[in-house]
Amino acid sequence: MNEKMEKALNEQINAELYSAYLYLSMSAYFAAQDMPGFANWMYVQYQEETTHGIKIYKYVLERGGKVILTTIQQPPTEWKDTQQVFEEVLKHEQLVTSLINNLVDLALAEKDHASNNMLQWFVAEQVEEEANAMTILGQIKMVQASKESLYMLDKELSQRVFVDATQAPGA
Ligand code: FEO
Repeated sequence: MNEKMEKALNEQINAELYSAYLYLSMSAYFAAQDMPGFANWMYVQYQEETTHGIKIYKYVLERGGKVILTTIQQPPTEWKDTQQVFEEVLKHEQLVTSLINNLVDLALAEKDHASNNMLQWFVAEQVEEEANAMTILGQIKMVQASKESLYMLDKELSQRVFVDATQAPGA
């Protein structure tokens, strides 16, 4: 793996771990708001992002590259309301999608087919990530003024269970 790719993948490890940190902060926010279902959803999201970072970490090592872990930026700790949190989730996932697309562009430019192959997992994952954020944001907008409906949505989100998709067959 060439140096450019190695550096870019190291940056993506940091971006995925920052995502984990951001969602953990959102989980703490919801826990403090007495919304355990939303807190659970965000905690699962935090776990997922950690596995994303680790997937790239393991790949860099497997290719004989050097992993360099750098400072993870402090995430925000306060939001106006539930809707604002999910607006930020969607915006953040759109940003991550653009980072993944840039990495694919680089892999193609460098004719690094192995990295391109590994990154295609993330291309598919980002479609799901953005769709999840859009769905929940849509639901929040629908129930907006109704505390009762928001309570029901919180109950629904409490059902989310962590599954390590990076360990699935073919991942
Ligand atoms: Fe690892 Fe949410 O992208």
